[in-house]
Amino acid sequence: MVERMGDDLCLLGKDTLIAKTPKKSPLVSRMMLLVFAVSCGIYIFSVCLRQISTRPRPKSMNLQLFEGPCRDSGVKQSERLYLHYPKPETYSRAECACNPVRFFAILSMQRSGSGWFETLLNSHINVSSNGEIFSVKERRSNVSTIFNTLDKVYNLDWVSSASKNECSAAVGFKWMLNQGLIQHHEEIVEYFKRRGVSAIFLFRRNLLRRMVSVLANSYDRNAKLLNGTHKSHVHSPKEAEILASYKPTIDTKLLLLNLKNEQNMSTRAMEYFKSTNHIVLYYEDLVHNRSKLSNVLKFLRIPRMKLKSRQVKIHKGSLSEQIGNWDEVHKTLNGTQYESFLEEDYKF
Ligand SMILES: *[C@@H]1O[C@H](CO)[C@@H](O)[C@H](O)[C@H]1NC(C)=O
Ligand SMILES: *[C@@H]1O[C@H](CO)[C@@H](O)[C@H](O)[C@H]1NC(C)=O
Ligand SMILES: *[C@@H]1O[C@H](CO)[C@@H](O)[C@H](O)[C@H]1NC(C)=O
Ligand SMILES: *[C@@H]1O[C@H](CO)[C@@H](O)[C@H](O)[C@H]1NC(C)=O
Ligand SMILES: *[C@@H]1O[C@H](CO)[C@@H](O)[C@H](O)[C@H]1NC(C)=O
Ligand SMILES: *[C@@H]1O[C@H](CO)[C@@H](O)[C@H](O)[C@H]1NC(C)=O
Repeated sequence: MVERMGDDLCLLGKDTLIAKTPKKSPLVSRMMLLVFAVSCGIYIFSVCLRQISTRPRPKSMNLQLFEGPCRDSGVKQSERLYLHYPKPETYSRAECACNPVRFFAILSMQRSGSGWFETLLNSHINVSSNGEIFSVKERRSNVSTIFNTLDKVYNLDWVSSASKNECSAAVGFKWMLNQGLIQHHEEIVEYFKRRGVSAIFLFRRNLLRRMVSVLANSYDRNAKLLNGTHKSHVHSPKEAEILASYKPTIDTKLLLLNLKNEQNMSTRAMEYFKSTNHIVLYYEDLVHNRSKLSNVLKFLRIPRMKLKSRQVKIHKGSLSEQIGNWDEVHKTLNGTQYESFLEEDYKF
């Protein structure tokens, strides 16, 4: 850690010097800067020299400079791509500097349970999933802004309420297919493979239920049913009941086409990313069987732990109670490949 402190000192010194410059004669301050820079340089050089000349040293002294000693030689070559030892710019990983970190991204579509899934993951002490970071358009304006954002997240430098800092063993975020992911899929797949990012697909089988949730959520953006506040996720049965009281009407002329397009999008995403390290999850399966969650922890190779979420499901029970023009919708889908969406697919 010594060399790290040296770096910080130099930076600090430069800042203060620059800030004070106007008050002093330019020559004096330039001389001071020069002297300071030279002494910092000598200091860093001597620290490096010490590092090099006195190897082997206790592990903890080498962390900042050498990635090598962190590597576990017992790990298979194919696994190593997925083990990372980030060095955040904003803090030190301290005693966890040699704990490997896995990179992941939850690839999903809006209203498919990814918010709930992410709260479950974040209840794990070693997981940081940083939310829907690409909902901000500027971050996905082109491949370089996307890569810069990814680099920051995977370097553990992204600040969000989910940041766990030094002892994270898995870091990621959720990424909706329509947030530049499909559009720039070639470059993103290349990034995932190069940097060893694992993809967690999370889809909803029943796209009609997803549609109800999308319409209701979009309605609430203006209606703000909860005391004038729009909420996409809730923590109490009472709030869920209020939000579910709105029954959307579905445009049946476009229904089949919309369902087909949605299915097309998830199929294409899985096709594009099939060469990456990935797992495919369905919301309904996770709801039915919580032990499916342990597959996710296994996939990320993080210690088993009971995961918790405070979120309460908004729409539950029979779909016929949730759609304004149910009869029309039923008639439209009856006898089609989407017929099963009409049925109650899980119980609570
Ligand atoms: C990418 O977008 C950013 C922000 O919108 C812009 O500043 C930058 O010039 C763009 N880069 C390329 C390569 O288009
Ligand atoms: C998980 O976090 C705890 C507490 O911060 C830490 O002691 C432990 O080493 C971490 N586990 C892994 C696998 O990184
Ligand atoms: C709305 O506000 C009232 C009064 O502040 C409170 O009693 C009630 O619980 C709130 N309802 C919801 C759904 O937040
Ligand atoms: C998705 O739609 C496109 C364009 O309509 C079509 O070319 C493609 O074959 C479809 N893919 C799947 C997997 O359905
Ligand atoms: C629940 O999921 C686990 C893990 O995938 C599986 O082993 C188990 O058989 C499932 N249980 C049921 C009742 O489907
Ligand atoms: C659904 O279609 C079947 C025939 O495919 C028909 O017997 C049934 O009455 C239809 N149900 C409704 C509610 O329209």
